[in-house]
Amino acid sequence: MRIDIITIFPEMFEGPFTESIVKRAIGKGLVDIHLHNLRDYSTDKHRRVDDYPFSAGAGMVMMVEPVDNCISKLKSERHYDEVIYMSPDGELLTQPLVNQLSMNENLIMLCGHYKGIDERIREHLITKEISIGDYVLSGGELAAAVLTDSLVRLIPGALSDETSALSDSFQDGLVSPPVYTRPREYKGWEVPEVLLSGNDAVINEWKYQQSLARTKERRPEMYNLLEAKSKK
Ligand code: ADE
Repeated sequence: MRIDIITIFPEMFEGPFTESIVKRAIGKGLVDIHLHNLRDYSTDKHRRVDDYPFSAGAGMVMMVEPVDNCISKLKSERHYDEVIYMSPDGELLTQPLVNQLSMNENLIMLCGHYKGIDERIREHLITKEISIGDYVLSGGELAAAVLTDSLVRLIPGALSDETSALSDSFQDGLVSPPVYTRPREYKGWEVPEVLLSGNDAVINEWKYQQSLARTKERRPEMYNLLEAKSKK
């Protein structure tokens, strides 16, 4: 998979992409991540990428030209499956959406700033808008890092134990069951007896029931969806 990220703050990705699973996936050649500084695509002598909005209103607006220059250059080099704009009013990022996007070969992510981006970018260049939650961030960078991380961990070979992505919370519409490690008892806080039984069938059933109960309690909307599906 190849991911091209267009941003005015490329340094913001240094942390998320230089540690842990994403770092390892890049090292193994499983994902190719390219950061593009939008200012490099500005024709302005001060490398400006924003301007005042046409109507009255607070905040600057990201200009069409630098974004178009960058996206057009990338598109002239290869086919892109999606050109994604990270935006609080986009489609909410969920595990099913991550799963679907992980099937793609080449993705562009555009990180917005200021008051927004010129609407013509959305009309003519963007194919998908994604939000990572109903709150407003200072820019799309953190959102693009979240989306990238969620995609990279699904690439076969990115996780040391491939089955662990399948057992993630949300992959089966359930949140994960609790997990424990040694010691068996700490300050009188005990590990559930069933996990020490060695009986896989009993343990798996316990985990499933824990997941169900947790989903019902913590994410009732997810639980109702499951119930509705099982009645079909
Ligand atoms: N940019 C600003 N806020 C955002 C959000 N919640 N999701 C995606 N991109 C954003």
